[in-house]
Amino acid sequence: MALRDLSIFPAPVLRQEASKVENFDEELHSLLDDMAESMYFNKGLGLAAPQIGVSLSITVIDVEQKDGSPKLIELINPKIEELSDEQEEQEEGCLSFPGESEIILRPSRVLVTAKDRTGKDFQITADGLLGRALQHEIDHLHGVLFIDHISRLRRSLIQRRMKKLAAKKAKDAK
Ligand code: NI
Repeated sequence: MALRDLSIFPAPVLRQEASKVENFDEELHSLLDDMAESMYFNKGLGLAAPQIGVSLSITVIDVEQKDGSPKLIELINPKIEELSDEQEEQEEGCLSFPGESEIILRPSRVLVTAKDRTGKDFQITADGLLGRALQHEIDHLHGVLFIDHISRLRRSLIQRRMKKLAAKKAKDAK
């Protein structure tokens, strides 16, 4: 296993539509292992492959790690099949936006179908934190980011801060 570098906004890969996975092979398995390791290391509740610069339809989620009992979910080619009419607001952050968080309105409940690492189909119905993480991570696979769910004013503030951060990093790297 290996830690991967995170893609930080405005990295172009974050805005791409991720490709479907076709081969459920060793290469996929080591990518999944690296994603889980990188998610836990950075204390994220979820991580999508584009966030480590890989434009493939893969995400890992674990919303229970704070309880001390990890419960890793790996989703390959996930698809949102149903969203509840009922919505709720909750604070969200994203590993591609260090230090940023916003209150986001989303459907409360979601039904997702996906494949596991062996290529077997499964489905999850979830609400609460897991339902939210599923929506956030699957958004990533379509180039959609949490800032797309907030007002234009809030979004431009975050974009400005992130561009400043990127400029500072580029300067420090010299
Ligand atoms: Ni995110």
